[in-house]
Amino acid sequence: MVIYQNISLKPYNTFGIDVKADQFVEVKTIEEVQVLCTTFILAERKNLILGGGSNILLTKDFDGMVIKMNLKGLDIIKEDENHAWVKAMSGEVWHDFVMYCVNKNLSGVENLTLIPGCVGAAPMQNIGAYGVEIKETFEELFAVEMESGKLVKFTNAECKFGYRESIFKHEAKGKYIIVAVTFKLSKKPNYNLSYGALKETLANQGIVEPSLKAISDAVIAIRVAKLPDPRELGNSGSFFKNPEISLAEFNTLKEKFPEIKGFPLPDNKIKVPAGWLIEQCGWKGKKVGNTGAHKNQALVIVNYGNATGEEIWNMALTIQKSVHEKFGIKIEPEVNVI
Ligand code: EPU
Repeated sequence: MVIYQNISLKPYNTFGIDVKADQFVEVKTIEEVQVLCTTFILAERKNLILGGGSNILLTKDFDGMVIKMNLKGLDIIKEDENHAWVKAMSGEVWHDFVMYCVNKNLSGVENLTLIPGCVGAAPMQNIGAYGVEIKETFEELFAVEMESGKLVKFTNAECKFGYRESIFKHEAKGKYIIVAVTFKLSKKPNYNLSYGALKETLANQGIVEPSLKAISDAVIAIRVAKLPDPRELGNSGSFFKNPEISLAEFNTLKEKFPEIKGFPLPDNKIKVPAGWLIEQCGWKGKKVGNTGAHKNQALVIVNYGNATGEEIWNMALTIQKSVHEKFGIKIEPEVNVI
């Protein structure tokens, strides 16, 4: 394990922001993570745990230690007639894990094909797409407690998953380093084709009883058509979360904006697509300096070249302000702004 000084983080974040870290270390084993905690007393240093760097916006140089998680391994650790439990180490690329499951005909994460990032980051914000969230297949995770260096287990309930939420964004924030995640996948077809775009794509292909591979391919087609590839255009996926408002607020807005879209939630709330709100404010495809909202999906803010993190953050704040002025809704960032 080598600790490097003064390293550019440009290759380690999908926005492609060129800031420097005072210290940078790559870890490949649980033991290395534990050594960082006990010998280097990580809990007392400013630190940043990085997976794929696909959900952060770095706005300035990082005057602390960056830990790049590179623990690898994918294994079926248990099986019964109906299920298989796959343990994935945190540094595995999320999409590679999904492909491992699809190729083994294990169902449950196929709708989450091509989501950028690493396995270890997935539980932090309960990643989701096309009607599926990881909380549905998540069994447990192992994390190293920063202060003690001990390996601890979190069950599904202990993670307190919500929409793009978990305990790791709240009371457990900054206290644990996730090293491995186990998912319970189904051996029998257990598909979720409820999401409009997914249903339509499969129907257009004339597929009635899709295979896991067909679903995964359809998700790839939808994502590629709408979402920019970070290797070509720096971005962090959805920049904001979709806001949840009360039914009463939604009905009032609907009188003024009859076209407004909303998806009912169980507790009499409505989830409004932030992409639609941003588009209505005129931001879709608009370029300001080196940044702007993407032409195919207004919820994605992109780096057109050499944008600084600060420039992107200012763009995000401007978009947030205009949505608030027009609709009275405050959209909150989904990415971690550092
Ligand atoms: N919409 C617009 N204009 C836009 C974008 C979207 O009107 O520019 C409307 C669409 O017409 C659609 C609705 O908004 O009716 C929803 O759009 P979409 O299906 O693209 O999904 P989303 O709500 O914008 C969420 C996730 C994505 C995930 C998709 C598909 C969040 C914050 N984002 O986006 O996740 O891929 O659903 O399930 O929940 C991510 O988290 O980084 C991410 C990409």
